[in-house]
Amino acid sequence: MSTQIITTAIRGRFLDIQNTVSQASEIQNQIRYIEDGLLITENGKIQWFGAWEDGQPFLSSEIQVDHYPHQLIVPGFIDTHIHFPQTEMVGAYGEQLLEWLNTYTFPTELQFKDKNYADKIAQFFIQELLKNGTTTALVFCTVHPSSVDALFEAAEQFQMRLIAGKVLMDRHAPEELCDTAETAYADSKELIEKWHNKGRNLYAITPRFAPTSTPQQLEKAQQLKIEYPDVYVHTHLSENKDEIAWVKTLFPKQNSYLDVYHHYELTGSKSIFAHCVHLEDEEWDCMHQTGSAIAFCPTSNLFLGSGLFPLKKTWEKQVKVGLGTDIGAGTSFCHLQTINEAYKVQQLQGNKLSAIESLYHATLGGAKALSLEDKLGNFKIGKEADFIVLDIHATDLQRLRQQRSKTIEDALFALMTMGDDRNIDATYIYGQKVYTKNA
Ligand code: GUN
Ligand code: ZN
Repeated sequence: MSTQIITTAIRGRFLDIQNTVSQASEIQNQIRYIEDGLLITENGKIQWFGAWEDGQPFLSSEIQVDHYPHQLIVPGFIDTHIHFPQTEMVGAYGEQLLEWLNTYTFPTELQFKDKNYADKIAQFFIQELLKNGTTTALVFCTVHPSSVDALFEAAEQFQMRLIAGKVLMDRHAPEELCDTAETAYADSKELIEKWHNKGRNLYAITPRFAPTSTPQQLEKAQQLKIEYPDVYVHTHLSENKDEIAWVKTLFPKQNSYLDVYHHYELTGSKSIFAHCVHLEDEEWDCMHQTGSAIAFCPTSNLFLGSGLFPLKKTWEKQVKVGLGTDIGAGTSFCHLQTINEAYKVQQLQGNKLSAIESLYHATLGGAKALSLEDKLGNFKIGKEADFIVLDIHATDLQRLRQQRSKTIEDALFALMTMGDDRNIDATYIYGQKVYTKNA
């Protein structure tokens, strides 16, 4: 019996970060830039990568080479926090977090009790990720188990690596959107058995945030994590000042907001906390000690007026961090725009965010935040072949500006300041081209 081998070959200008680092200053030494390179994939994995001239012996005559002479090829973007059911509500006017949830979010999420509706939005959502160069995401679904089915079914068509889970929420939300401690446990368990490690899918236990779960429900989340230590935990933390004050009144025995999650053993190397804008020192220490990760969501933090995330502190405190779009509080699916806003958030705090550091957070650093750095994030041989083809001259203004770029860093910075989905020419997942601009 012969097994079919699927091979892809891509020629072009490649840029990636070779190894994870513990300080921003070390990233510079890890840049790998190959002007004329070749990448060969076999059954979804990177089988060979190097200079075009060195790669000839590895190319057989029947392999067709996709050649991108004028573009820049980088690893696929990793979105460490996004809500697929909020796709249609980007740009909801005028409110900060708690009012925004009640006014816009909960009514939108109610629609996902209908599986057909969830299917429709899931398909749109996955297409939008691909179109924006995002090849892996950590995703909130709704409280409805079928919303998780809808999302994984849509992702599976492209063999996309996705982490997702059903929202746990048993108070402080419309009754129709609430589960119970028991159904949250039973439904999540069923979904873990059905989806976790099926193909490239991974599951995340997903309490919405501390205010919408009773202590009994958090105990059930704890029980799930003990039974399935390999699954992820994904929630929100310390996003908005009113939210933090509310958590303190709801859980008076806990020392801090993070201490609520820590008390229920929901911290750890596979736990990702979105936002963390206003963490106290002891919370930073707990994040570090437990190996938990942060999803930094600049477009959302600005849009909801939540605050300025201190990115520099993640290096000082040695806490893992990735970038999140947080659609629909966030305003763009594209990590180029997310980086554009991340830069400004740092400027407002007197700090510089370089293009190379931004690339790191969007790719290998994001993979590390998701404990997937052994599988994703760069062109290392053996890793999964998820990458994107960027056109750095997609508009007249970009073309004019790029004429002045003297270095690859400067070209990248201009791309990140002005770029969006118009700059994504193609997206490859697991070695296959799954999106072509204007196709
Ligand atoms: N906190 C609890 N739920 C949400 C949500 O849907 N979006 C954001 N940005 N924060 C939250
Ligand atoms: Zn969110």
